[in-house]
Amino acid sequence: MNYKLTLLLAFIVFGAQAQKLSEAQIASKVDSLVAIMTIAEKVGQTNMYNGTWEFTGPVPADDNNQLKADNIKKGYVGGMLNVLTAKGTREAQKMAVENSRLGIPLIFGYDVIHGYKTMLPVPIAQSASWDFEGAKRGAALAAQETGASGVHWTFSPMIDVSWDARWGRIMEGAGEDSYLTSVMAKAWIEGYQGDDLSDPLTIAACAKHFAGYAFAEAGRDYNTADVSPQTLYNVILPPFEAAVNAGAATFMNSFNEISGVPATGDKYLQREILKGRWGFDGFMVSDWGSIGELLTHGFAEDSAHAGELAFNAGSDMDMEARIYEFELEQLVASGKVDMSTLDDAVKRILSVKYRLGLFEDPYKYCDDKREKELVYTAETKKIARDVAKSTLVLLKNENNLLPLSKNIKSIAVIGQLAGSKDIPLGNWRAQAIANSAVSVEEGIKNAVSKKTKVQFAQGYTLTTGNRDFVHELTFEDDQGEGFEEAINLARTSEVVVLTVGEDCYQTGEGRSQADISLKGKQLELFNELIKVNKNVVVVLMNGRPLAIPELAEKASAILETWFSGSEAGNAIADVLFGDYNPSGKLPVTFPDNVGQEPLHYDRKSTGRPVTNAFDNGLVFWSHYTDSPNEGTYPFGFGLSYSEFNYSDLNVQSVENGKVKVEVLISNTSKTPGKETVQVYIRDRVASLTQPIKRLVDFKQVEVAAGGQQKVTFELTKEDLGFYNNQYEFVVEDGAFDIMVGTNSMDLMKETINLTF
Ligand code: GLC
Repeated sequence: MNYKLTLLLAFIVFGAQAQKLSEAQIASKVDSLVAIMTIAEKVGQTNMYNGTWEFTGPVPADDNNQLKADNIKKGYVGGMLNVLTAKGTREAQKMAVENSRLGIPLIFGYDVIHGYKTMLPVPIAQSASWDFEGAKRGAALAAQETGASGVHWTFSPMIDVSWDARWGRIMEGAGEDSYLTSVMAKAWIEGYQGDDLSDPLTIAACAKHFAGYAFAEAGRDYNTADVSPQTLYNVILPPFEAAVNAGAATFMNSFNEISGVPATGDKYLQREILKGRWGFDGFMVSDWGSIGELLTHGFAEDSAHAGELAFNAGSDMDMEARIYEFELEQLVASGKVDMSTLDDAVKRILSVKYRLGLFEDPYKYCDDKREKELVYTAETKKIARDVAKSTLVLLKNENNLLPLSKNIKSIAVIGQLAGSKDIPLGNWRAQAIANSAVSVEEGIKNAVSKKTKVQFAQGYTLTTGNRDFVHELTFEDDQGEGFEEAINLARTSEVVVLTVGEDCYQTGEGRSQADISLKGKQLELFNELIKVNKNVVVVLMNGRPLAIPELAEKASAILETWFSGSEAGNAIADVLFGDYNPSGKLPVTFPDNVGQEPLHYDRKSTGRPVTNAFDNGLVFWSHYTDSPNEGTYPFGFGLSYSEFNYSDLNVQSVENGKVKVEVLISNTSKTPGKETVQVYIRDRVASLTQPIKRLVDFKQVEVAAGGQQKVTFELTKEDLGFYNNQYEFVVEDGAFDIMVGTNSMDLMKETINLTF
């Protein structure tokens, strides 16, 4: 190529970029670049490979890897996933930038779901904090470690509203409520992306999985989602619209079909709604291989047809289906895909790379020194501990057994989960170091005085097997051989802290369960322990709501801790011993039994609503003959060491359909604390039936011991309306219940007539 053209290309592609580019400047540069790209180079940008070898070493002699390496050097690859470290990403980037004709940089993505190496609590736990700033701070920490490790992009946040505890991936999201999920989506995206996406310590977010993935029938992962327009428009989509409004750089589509159309091939979802109605200007990446799965869905004839359907539907980048790289050029040549459609996808992908600053400096994330300084430090662990504390939910505290004294004589710490330094790290753990978490046992030992005797007994065996290959985990047929030691220890200790729940690999992708009660002999051991010690504190460690009615009834105290990350034991001890007053609230309903699933608080009235039909001998009403309707713990539930009372609810209609809501919170205890005041509404009569209640706002307030706080909310039409089946937002005159309280069941209510 002649010297002048090379210079011109270099200027077009990289140009002199001292300052951050405006969107107009990016658009201009992208247009100029696309104008000189060959079709093979354009198709290359839509192609994403998994990093199947260590880029710091030679390409292994393997056709697949050799093809990948050759295509990277030709500029026929747009992005890669699972290429890590400043060194590894630099080597991979050099292959693309220094060998291809235009030197277009790769974008590197990775599943940083709740931390890169310093593990934060799993997302459902973070949602239990209801703490926007805390979740944002955690995501900023994850971004710092990820960016410092050479990676530009995380496949997070997962914002699939989930009503079904059987679904393993409920752990990865923000729970069952659309409004809370929308709030957490904004927090996580703002945390990841910061104020300047070109800062190497901020990373591109990826809102996923678009859409409806969590509504898999029977809670079975990847299963069909058959949802009504009402559920789609009023429950599933709002968090994704919030993600667009928060500036999410990318989206990922989902494996499931919605009402007969696989999301990857859903033009209505991806083009009409996401890119059209919402004006999303980033790019859509397919989920792993989902383009190829259009065949197994029975939606595409062959690979070429799958590529045509997915690309025309708005799936801009192909993650490891290996279809666009082989089919797209021919699809364009045959006219089945317009060149303008290809240009649109390429412009979206290049725009994100410009926003990340990768054209300014393709190696700006590749700094070995910064990686050493910023990843997995005392500071990052402190942040993780602070975030974790706020995610813990106090479910029961009979006779104020908690907080425990640090000078207590003896504590029996019991359960395989209590001794584990690995399980608290959770699933989807990125670069977490195995067995690096502070265990419950260690956290308790760190917290108590030298005089306190802390002894451990495993008690039960939940899982064994090689934890490096999570699929090999076996749920042992525990013969109870650990019972005697545990019971004897409980008998001779002042207090028992029993940790029960799940192995972290019982939740996450591909981990749906038909039984969500405590596995193995956990409950049996609990029943033995309470025979010999009346002070049994249960620490729950789990990723999904569990069916624990017996535990709820018999335990003296229960603390929900989810999988709390690297500092789990310390954060749990902070609450157990009163250094942190628990403030978490459940983002999901805990069912009485799995037969109630899917179970969510914002349900419809039905034509035959009833509570306790069974007790009242009622038959022809909406109930079970063998189970209560309600769960064990409701959405929004969480106790405190403080005592919060609600009074003086005042609801007023103000100008143009706004509603002013005031309530007084009194803390009648001697312990200052944080309370999450929740506001729910019910549109009592509407052209489409509305939930008996739905969360529309919440505020967290600190109330001093013996103090009071007046809390005010202003509800607008946006809070009071709903989408009809034509996806039109409507607000209808009539009676509205306005409810305020400490959870979705314990509510003060006023009914008001509104005209809009
Ligand atoms: C997985 C998951 C998705 C993840 C992607 C890349 O199958 O569904 O959430 O981001 O593949 O690992």
